Amino acid sequence: MIKQQLARFTRLELLAQATPLEKLERLSAWVGRDIYIKRDDLTPLALGGNKLRKLEYLGADALAVGADTLITAGAIQSNHVRQTAALAARLGLGCVALLENPIGTEDANYLGNGNRLLLDLFGARVELVDNLDNADEQLQALAERLRGNGKKPYLVPIGGSNALGALGYVRAGFELAAQIEDSGLEFAAVVLASGSAGTHSGLGLALSEALPRLPVVGVTVSRSDEAQRPKVQGLAERTAELLGVSVPASFKVELWDEYFAPRYGEPNAGTLAAVKLLASQEGILLDPVYTGKAMAGLLDGIALQRFEDGPIIFLHTGGAPALFAYEAML
Ligand SMILES: Cc1ncc(COP(=O)(O)O)c(C=O)c1O
Repeated sequence: MIKQQLARFTRLELLAQATPLEKLERLSAWVGRDIYIKRDDLTPLALGGNKLRKLEYLGADALAVGADTLITAGAIQSNHVRQTAALAARLGLGCVALLENPIGTEDANYLGNGNRLLLDLFGARVELVDNLDNADEQLQALAERLRGNGKKPYLVPIGGSNALGALGYVRAGFELAAQIEDSGLEFAAVVLASGSAGTHSGLGLALSEALPRLPVVGVTVSRSDEAQRPKVQGLAERTAELLGVSVPASFKVELWDEYFAPRYGEPNAGTLAAVKLLASQEGILLDPVYTGKAMAGLLDGIALQRFEDGPIIFLHTGGAPALFAYEAML
């Protein structure tokens, strides 16, 4: 039902193929548990990452309504803003981004390297703001200003996480379900980073239809379970509504919030250990803000026996360009 409804929506089709689902042989041997990785860090735009899947739907909508500028917001080291700016360049659109410094650092690499460096290469215009506490209003005000200058802005919400953007991860969920079925394996869970929630809500929605017994575990990167739960649930409901379906009864929000401290954008010792482990055991780059925290949760979940039996899938959502901004902490 969800799958059929999804076909009604237009996407940009920059993603021609499924991203790989691979076994992490050396990590599995090291941990004593089979771990697979879904390589959404390898999506084909500007060093990869999960946002392209959302932007395929949002970008198609921007073109359909005749926009000439993508506007969005995020942290100075936002992967989402980097991918939005790259897509704007690819489509011949302008890009304006509101950026905040969520960790209040003056570190030169954080302020100018990593994702922030790439924004300049993509030709995005950046406006620094004190905070993004009212991001929707701040983006609306920016859109008003641009319209006043004769522009046709298209508002991409923080993280690309509205119902239309989440469709990208509904689609990813069906892609992953097909790969799981092909593998013939009974997986114990899929683990991913849960931030602005579009990835978690979309993937969870699709998997609740395609593989209703497979748990989806969101490791929070910025919020407590209590604060994150309504975001994931609410976005899943709005996404289902956009699709014209009801949320399947098997849809469950499972959140682990023990791994995000001290706060968004700041890694802890477990985050850094996970980044170093994947790099040294597998030659795979995680990031210090999202996937390092999610992998720390996965590894601790194995140690604490929080999973049922069976191999585990880690959704790698990208973010490695931020490593160059976090040199001082690595
Ligand atoms: C690398 C990476 N992983 C995970 C996420 C979280 O995805 P979502 O915002 O859809 O929860 C983001 C969001 O910016 C990200 O950049």
